[in-house]
Amino acid sequence: MNSMFAPPLASSIEKTGIVAVLVVDEVKDAVPLARALLSGGVNAIELTLRTPAALDALKAIKANVPEMLRGVGTSVTGEQVAQAVGAGAAFGVAPGLNPRVLAAAREAGLSFAPGILTPSDIETALEYGCKLLKFFPAEPSGGLPYLKAMSAPYNHLGLRFVPLGGLNAKNMASYLADPCIAALGGSWLAPRELIRAGQWAKITALAAESVQIIKSTRPQ
Ligand code: 3PG
Repeated sequence: MNSMFAPPLASSIEKTGIVAVLVVDEVKDAVPLARALLSGGVNAIELTLRTPAALDALKAIKANVPEMLRGVGTSVTGEQVAQAVGAGAAFGVAPGLNPRVLAAAREAGLSFAPGILTPSDIETALEYGCKLLKFFPAEPSGGLPYLKAMSAPYNHLGLRFVPLGGLNAKNMASYLADPCIAALGGSWLAPRELIRAGQWAKITALAAESVQIIKSTRPQ
């Protein structure tokens, strides 16, 4: 079965190595937020479908900051997948694994990385051709040691993981040296309260700090 995540897109995300998880309350904040992240070197986002403003925020970023890799998060229904594609999403992720959502993403031709936490999740994801997987919630479930133990039986299948959940500038390096890690993600790069307060310079600084950690930690 073909991969559920377009290889060129997966490579782009892996190249940056970091995805900012965003909760956007006001559409007007979307473009300055995307530009603030880009200025800090972060060119991939997971715009969560947790607010009424999310889809219009995505449309605004597509129109005004086309160089930003636009992902949607918390896409938990087939309908949300269709809406996300309509709003210009390039990929989708979810905290969990829902076969109906994966089927809708395949139907819509949307690259999708489901959330996994157990071997059974991995085996269901493989059924749908998913080889790029969101490991969530990463830190509360035991971080890299848990991921390594849980995914070891599948090491021969070329799976790649994106840990999210509880990551920050202090603990992110603990993941980076491992070859199974494609990229990292989280809300620490642009917390909701900083977005609401329009603190774009602070967000750029948080992004730049983490991009530097990746550059200095990852094997070149
Ligand atoms: C997600 O959707 O991936 C999580 O909200 C990210 O978790 P964090 O807020 O702990 O970074």
